Amino acid sequence: MPRLITFKKIGEEEIGYLSFFESNKEIDFDIKRIYYTYAVPVGVQRGMHAHKELKQLVWCPYGSVKFILDNGTEKRTYILDQPDKGLLIDRGFWRDIYWLKEGSVLCVAVSDFYSENDYIRSYDEFKKLVDSGYWGNENRFYPSDPE
Ligand code: TYD
Repeated sequence: MPRLITFKKIGEEEIGYLSFFESNKEIDFDIKRIYYTYAVPVGVQRGMHAHKELKQLVWCPYGSVKFILDNGTEKRTYILDQPDKGLLIDRGFWRDIYWLKEGSVLCVAVSDFYSENDYIRSYDEFKKLVDSGYWGNENRFYPSDPE
């Protein structure tokens, strides 16, 4: 289930802050890849895909980025606008990503190496997989998530 997490934060106003997370502690997978997206003009939409198996932790160390997650029956919106905030995304969620602030940087820690085979880039194909029960109960939302 996707969930917002607050990373540990060490420091104070005078000297700044440090945040961190570790595999199999804050997140339930081993990190095999990290990538980041930047210099995206405000208003641009990215994402528009789902993953068959990949799990991701996304965070925005600078700026503001909006995620709309869709499990085929329901959509939820998450805003990443604090450097100590992250969003865990499980398998089987369609994502639309919108850049809200100039200069925003979106970082992603991922459970596997890059493979285009893991992408679902057609919403129709995504819906078919949802309807066939491909992810079972894994792509549910928590009842108490922000709407
Ligand atoms: P994509 O995941 O579609 O980006 P976004 O969701 O931000 O729009 O990736 C964009 C392109 O980059 C696509 O051609 C695949 C390529 N790519 C890699 O080669 N390696 C990677 O690790 C990632 C994430 C993407």
